[in-house]
Amino acid sequence: MTPFAMPSHSHDDQPNMPKVPIGQCRYRVPVTNQDLKRYLAAAAANLTFNAPLSAERAADLIRRLAPSGAGWRALDLGCGNGELLMRLCENHGISGDGVERDAGDGERARLNATKRGVSDRVTFHSTDAATWDRPADLVVNVGAGYVWGDAAQALTALHRLTVPGGKLLFADGIYQASPSDQVRETFGDLPDLAALAQFAVDAGFRPLHVAVSTLAEWDDFESDWRAGIERLGTPDARAFADQRRDGYLNGYRGIVGFGWLILTPA
Ligand SMILES: C[S@@+](CC[C@H](N)C(=O)[O-])C[C@H]1O[C@@H](n2cnc3c(N)ncnc32)[C@H](O)[C@@H]1O
Repeated sequence: MTPFAMPSHSHDDQPNMPKVPIGQCRYRVPVTNQDLKRYLAAAAANLTFNAPLSAERAADLIRRLAPSGAGWRALDLGCGNGELLMRLCENHGISGDGVERDAGDGERARLNATKRGVSDRVTFHSTDAATWDRPADLVVNVGAGYVWGDAAQALTALHRLTVPGGKLLFADGIYQASPSDQVRETFGDLPDLAALAQFAVDAGFRPLHVAVSTLAEWDDFESDWRAGIERLGTPDARAFADQRRDGYLNGYRGIVGFGWLILTPA
């Protein structure tokens, strides 16, 4: 089974990540690493955002992230196709950097930036976000906190990368209700929303905005994710999509949530 945000690589190569990164759970249908990469790439290619995020919430978050000074620069670590970063930079007329390890996503992001006429001010770097050490005013990390370990470790690392007076948009998996043993086995120990916000405070932030994805955002995300896989049109891809649908509808729907925090260094 597998849920939401999708790192398009095996988690075996990330020794410091939590038991199961959000977006990459265990699969009951046997799947080779090569097939898994293909499925995750197909799912990601069919998504605007690789997270349970509606266009309305994206617009609201971008409004809330408005720079409060001149010359602000954005930084999105684990930016996927770069859609949120580009909207942020377009809306506020600012420049930014996207960091994405997956070469395919990075290429898609660059093509999109060229098409939208922002490639002169939005730069995409195909590299490991864990090695990025240049702080920015507006930092974004959505569904990729596992780059640094668990959410608490991610928030500590992101505090170092957010300049004083700046803002961080952090979004990650949470439990909204008590998980079954199987869901916990799949997703590991996730905080609830209150604990996630407390991790942020402990890391040195003040929470400015705290929210969760709605069930409708989740349902759309899951459906669009599976539709990308269905397009591959093979029996194996269908079996993989079936497994995901079953895992969601009979398992983590309404149990695993996605928390959104806008934070500023205290
Ligand atoms: C769940 S996706 C979210 C993508 C994007 N933030 C969004 O919301 O659409 C997580 C992204 O993090 C990327 N990623 C994972 N580990 C990374 C690393 N160490 N450095 C840079 N990117 C990484 C994955 O390739 C994937 O695109």
